[in-house]
Amino acid sequence: MKLDTKKILILGGSGFIGNAIYKELCNYFDTYGTYCHAANSFSSNKQFVHYNLEEDDIVEVLEEIKPQVIVSALRGNFAALVIAHNHIVEYITKEDCKIYFISSANVFDAYSKYPSYEMDKTLSESVYGRLKIKIENMLLRLPKDKMAILRVPMVFGNSSPRVKDMKKAILANEPVEVFPNLILNVTNDDKLTQQIHYLINRNKTGIYHLGSNDLTHHEDFIKEVLERVGNFNPIIKRVYTTNEDRYLAVLPKTNKLPKNLQFTFQDIIDHHVLN
Ligand SMILES: NC(=O)c1ccc[n+]([C@@H]2O[C@H](COP(=O)([O-])OP(=O)(O)OC[C@H]3O[C@@H](n4cnc5c(N)ncnc54)[C@H](OP(=O)(O)O)[C@@H]3O)[C@@H](O)[C@H]2O)c1
Repeated sequence: MKLDTKKILILGGSGFIGNAIYKELCNYFDTYGTYCHAANSFSSNKQFVHYNLEEDDIVEVLEEIKPQVIVSALRGNFAALVIAHNHIVEYITKEDCKIYFISSANVFDAYSKYPSYEMDKTLSESVYGRLKIKIENMLLRLPKDKMAILRVPMVFGNSSPRVKDMKKAILANEPVEVFPNLILNVTNDDKLTQQIHYLINRNKTGIYHLGSNDLTHHEDFIKEVLERVGNFNPIIKRVYTTNEDRYLAVLPKTNKLPKNLQFTFQDIIDHHVLN
C-alpha cells in the first residue's frame, strides 16, 4: 500500500534522471512516467504513457493522469519544450497541481568568476542555458506554492551516461576529456533523487540548488572517479576553454536542505565503485 496517495507524473520518466526519480518515488506515491523512444523498456509498464513532445499535446497526458505533482525531466527539441511548458503552466494555473522543474547550472554560464546562489540573476551564453532560463521565467510567474526550480550541476554515478561514456572511451582506447580550468560542484543520481523525494514529500517550493556543498576542479574530480571505476591507465585529453579559472557551480544559501541531505564532492567520488 502506498503511504501517500499523492499522484506524481514524471515527464521523461524513461531517462537517466527521470527514471532514477521514478524508482525513488514509486514505493511511496502513486507515480507515473512518460517515455518517448524507449518503448522496448516501458510500453508494457502500466505506470508509463507514451508522450512525444514534438507530436503530442501535453495537456492530453495531464488530463488523463491528473497528477498533483509534475516532475519535468525532459530533453528534446527546444522550441517544442518551450511550448510544452507553456501548456503545463496553463494547466497548473487552473488545477490543484505543482511542478518540479529540473533546471541546470548552465542558467549561470555567462558568470565565470564566481559560483552562483539561488537568488542570483540568471544569465547564459549557451543555447541550452537560455532555454532553461526561458522555462524558469515562465514558472516564476506561477503562484509561489505551485512551482520549484531545481538547478542541478553535472550528474555522475555508476549508471550515469557521463561515467558510462568514460568507461566506453577507455575500453576503445580513446581519450577522456577534462576541462582543467573548470571549477564546479557535482551530484549523482542517488543524492539528487533523495533530495527531490524530500522536497516533494514536504511540499517545498521555490528555487533549490541541488549539488555538493563544496567545489572541485573538473580535471581532479574526473581523475579520481576514473580511479574508482577501473584499474586502467586512461588517456586524458586536456581541453582548455579559457586560460583563467571558470566556475560552473550552483551552491545553496537561501534554501538549504537538512544536514542529512547535504554532501561533498568527495561523497560523490566515493560512491563510484568498480563493476
Ligand atoms: N544529466 C545531467 O548531468 C544533467 C544536469 C543538469 C540538468 N539536467 C537536466 O535533467 C533533465 C533530464 O536529463 P537526463 O540526463 O536524464 O536526460 P536523458 O537521459 O536523455 O532523458 C531525457 C528524457 O526525455 C525524453 N525525451 C527525449 N526526446 C523526447 C521527445 N521528443 N518527446 C518526449 N520525451 C522525450 C526521453 O525519453 P526516451 O528516452 O524514451 O526517448 C527521456 O525520458 C534534462 O532537462 C536536463 O537538462 C541533466
